[in-house]
Amino acid sequence: IGAHFQPKVLRGKRVLVTAGPTFEPIDPVRGITNLSSGKMGFAIARAAAEAGAEVTLIAGPVVLPTPAGVQRIDVQTAVQMHDAVLPIAAKHDVFIATAAVADWRPAAVHAHKIKKAEDGITAPQIAMTENPDILRAVAQLPQPPYCVGFAAESEKLAEHAEAKRRRKGIPLIVANLGPATFGRDDNALLLIDATTQRELSRADKLSLARELIQEISVRI
Ligand code: CTP
Ligand code: CA
Repeated sequence: IGAHFQPKVLRGKRVLVTAGPTFEPIDPVRGITNLSSGKMGFAIARAAAEAGAEVTLIAGPVVLPTPAGVQRIDVQTAVQMHDAVLPIAAKHDVFIATAAVADWRPAAVHAHKIKKAEDGITAPQIAMTENPDILRAVAQLPQPPYCVGFAAESEKLAEHAEAKRRRKGIPLIVANLGPATFGRDDNALLLIDATTQRELSRADKLSLARELIQEISVRI
């Protein structure tokens, strides 16, 4: 069924979503990034808007159209994503962190392109520093929105995801098996909160996003 016929379960609510990867520059022409198409996060932003929410989408570098009615802010790095999210997070009722945030960034960005060594052997050593944990920072605000995390795990899905939910101090985590789902149009999700586990069986990402929005609406 179409966008207009979705039940307006989030009418009057404000929803903040992060999506896509972040890109951490090494020099003006190079960087490190994570694998993420942004499709799941964009589908969730769309589903939240269809459900009547006012939606803000903070997007890393992805090639996807902005869903109808969604306010989009583009960022590149984890620090930029953090700085875009934190000042506005408390104004939202729900925060859904789908972004594949790079855990580390190069400690220093070279002003000019790093040149290959004359000896044809020596490779640059890139010192790294940890990025801020955006989801944890939002969950620790004095009046946090309802926080939903995502966890892509390669094994022991439920166990690792539940440990992550507790570590981050969030009420709900959505687990999926990665990297099997990366870039695909379909996915399967496992929802874990303090008392229940529920599987959303394999479907296209928009259908799953609509189901997830329904699940969130009954929890807030
Ligand atoms: N996340 C975030 N900021 C970060 C890292 C992660 O907001 N710097 C969010 C992700 O958007 C996701 C959740 O935290 O919703 C879990 O991300 P994940 O990478 O699985 O967790 P980490 O705590 O980084 O643990 P690890 O990568 O070591 O498994
Ligand atoms: Ca991580």
